[in-house]
Amino acid sequence: MIDSHAHLTVKKYRKDLDAVLSRARKAGVSAVVNVGFDVDSSADGVRLARDRSDVFAAVGVHPHDAATVDDYVLSYLEELAGDAKVVAIGEIGLDFYRDLSPRRVQEEVFVKQLALAERVGLPVIIHDRDAHRRVMEILKGEKVSRGVMHCFSGDMGLARQALDLGLHISFAGPITYNGAGAAAIIRKMPPERLLIETDCPYLAPVPFRGKRNEPAYVKYVLERMAQVLGRPVEEIDALTEGNARRLFGLPS
Ligand code: NI
Repeated sequence: MIDSHAHLTVKKYRKDLDAVLSRARKAGVSAVVNVGFDVDSSADGVRLARDRSDVFAAVGVHPHDAATVDDYVLSYLEELAGDAKVVAIGEIGLDFYRDLSPRRVQEEVFVKQLALAERVGLPVIIHDRDAHRRVMEILKGEKVSRGVMHCFSGDMGLARQALDLGLHISFAGPITYNGAGAAAIIRKMPPERLLIETDCPYLAPVPFRGKRNEPAYVKYVLERMAQVLGRPVEEIDALTEGNARRLFGLPS
C-alpha cells in the first residue's frame, strides 16, 4: 500500500513518529507521501523525506494560508521542489467552506502554484472543499493534466471532468462511513485512476473514527474500496500502489 496523502510533520506525531512509521511498515505500507500545507510543513516534509527512504514529499501552501503567499514563498517552494524526494506540488486548491483566506487570493495563489508545478514538471495534489466549479474552471484554464483530486468529495459529474483532464481521484477514511455516494463513484472510476490515502492525522477511518489517524490505517480505506469493487484486497492493493508509483514517479 501507499498512503498518498499524510501530514506527518504536525505536532500530533512529535512524540511517536518512529512508532507511527514502523506500524505503517508492519501494516504493509511501502511508501508515504507527506504533504505540505504551508512553508514550514513543506520544508519539514522535505527534511523528513531525506531521512527516510519510504517517505516522499509534496510541497505547497493550502488555500487556508493563501494570504501568506508572496513571491519569496513561491521561490522558496520552487527551491524545495528541486529536492530529489519531492514528488508533487500540494496541497493546493480552493476552500470555500472555511474561507480562511479571501477567495480572490485563494484563486490567484492556486494559479501561481499550478504554474510552479508546470515549471518544475511535477504533478499536483488538489484540495477542493465546496469550490468544485471554480476548481474545475481553473484546472481547465491552466490545462492541468497530471495530479490528483485528494479526499474526493464531489459527485460523478465532477469526477468525470477531473478524469477528462487526466487527473487521478483519491479516496480517504470517509468512504468507510459515508456509504453510498462514494461507493457509486468508485465503481464507475477507471481502475487506473484510483488512489488511496489517509489525510492523517485527520479523517480516521472506521474503526478509529474520531481518533488520531495514521498511515497504517490506509489499509481500512483499501479494504473498503476492495469491498465496494467486489475484488480481492490484494488486487486493489497492487492496483492503487501501481497507480501512485506511476503518478508520483516513485521507485518500485
Ligand atoms: Ni491534507
